[in-house]
Amino acid sequence: MNKNISYKQDQLFVEDVAVSEITNSLRTPFYVYSRTVIEENFGRFKRSLEGLDSMICYSVKANSNLSVLETIAKLGGGADVVSLGEYKRALIAGIDPRKIVFSGVGKQDFEIAEILKSSLLQFNIESVSELEMINKIASSLNKEAPIAFRVNPDIDAGTHENISTGKADNKFGIPISDAVEIYQYASKLEKIKIVGIDVHIGSQISDLNAFRQTFEHLEKLIYELKNINIELENIDIGGGLGIKYTDDDLEPDLQEYGGLVKRILGNLSCRIIFEPGRYIVGNSGILVTKVLHSKMSQNKSFLVTDAGMNDFSRTALYGATHRLIPLSKKKRGEEVYDVVGPVCETTDTFLKNYLVEKAEEGDFFAFLDVGAYGAVLSSEYNTRPLVPEVMIYKKRFEIVRTRPTYDEIFDKEAIPTWE
Ligand code: LLP
Repeated sequence: MNKNISYKQDQLFVEDVAVSEITNSLRTPFYVYSRTVIEENFGRFKRSLEGLDSMICYSVKANSNLSVLETIAKLGGGADVVSLGEYKRALIAGIDPRKIVFSGVGKQDFEIAEILKSSLLQFNIESVSELEMINKIASSLNKEAPIAFRVNPDIDAGTHENISTGKADNKFGIPISDAVEIYQYASKLEKIKIVGIDVHIGSQISDLNAFRQTFEHLEKLIYELKNINIELENIDIGGGLGIKYTDDDLEPDLQEYGGLVKRILGNLSCRIIFEPGRYIVGNSGILVTKVLHSKMSQNKSFLVTDAGMNDFSRTALYGATHRLIPLSKKKRGEEVYDVVGPVCETTDTFLKNYLVEKAEEGDFFAFLDVGAYGAVLSSEYNTRPLVPEVMIYKKRFEIVRTRPTYDEIFDKEAIPTWE
């Protein structure tokens, strides 16, 4: 566990705040983020790139709360966004638009137009159709669009199939074998300004070999482009670095990752853009939940928590394991449980046969390492309001997203007025 999320006299603290202090005034479930952990992760990432002309464009999709983005902005980070909504969030939080890359396989015309009218570092383009669409919009606005192509290197990142993106049968990018031809075509389009190249092979990657092969493919392609006088300013190598959720996970060595980038791509006179998401925020967050019931079936003990798969879906979606720990160690001994949520789905199961401190109704617990792809993936399934988010910094905590009231939820809907 991170030193900023740890026990002091049997009470779970995030930085200098006892989490139980928050449960006194805020109904569970809720997310808590440590700003210091985010700062430290960002700092460590940056230090591993020392000596490299680099820019860290935090991948907003991992956790887009404004408080997180503002933390990134203060650290000098940029953003990787995939929608106009994320772009707007980044600006509100104070991120410099010249440090924003706009990624995504299905950008829409209104998004492209609004972002182009403002400013950005580059569009990461994923198809010829998108290239033509951007050129058309840029022409109508009489603006030049800075672009990079996301190439699909056909590499297996060795990660869960639902989060792999760099294989030929994934929907992402243009085939690397077609890249030279497509760059040549783009260079002839009037309002297109080629500035870079982009790749992202997947997420939660622990095998640095997949990165190495990808960087080598990129290097080769960049030389081929140089040969036809297409010079790039930016090499965007995406995100994807994995973190350690359980003892079974391997953690890639950050220094080694930085070393690979420097060795293979560091001498091409380009700026290297990184899009880390999970690495920056993953271990900064916990999800605080209350035990609603402890119950027995024929052969199992269940803990039913007030957090469900609608609040945190990584387990249901990817079979992910997130550890559960008590907010307050009661020292009643341990028991093996299946930890389940209250949602009416069998996949609303967080942990199976999990050994944890014996629990009673009303006890508070925390799921660990939920800072990335936690709150952002939540929904109001079963009409359960989106859960609040809290940020802690040293001795202070602040609610950075409130729970909507039921009326706020219903106000967005209407019963048709026809007879
Ligand atoms: N850049 C692009 C273009 C991406 O698609 C992603 C993540 C990232 C950067 C950031 O990747 P990271 O550094 O966080 O691995 N919901 C899944 C993960 C989906 C990742 C989607 N793309 C999960 O919870 O595991």
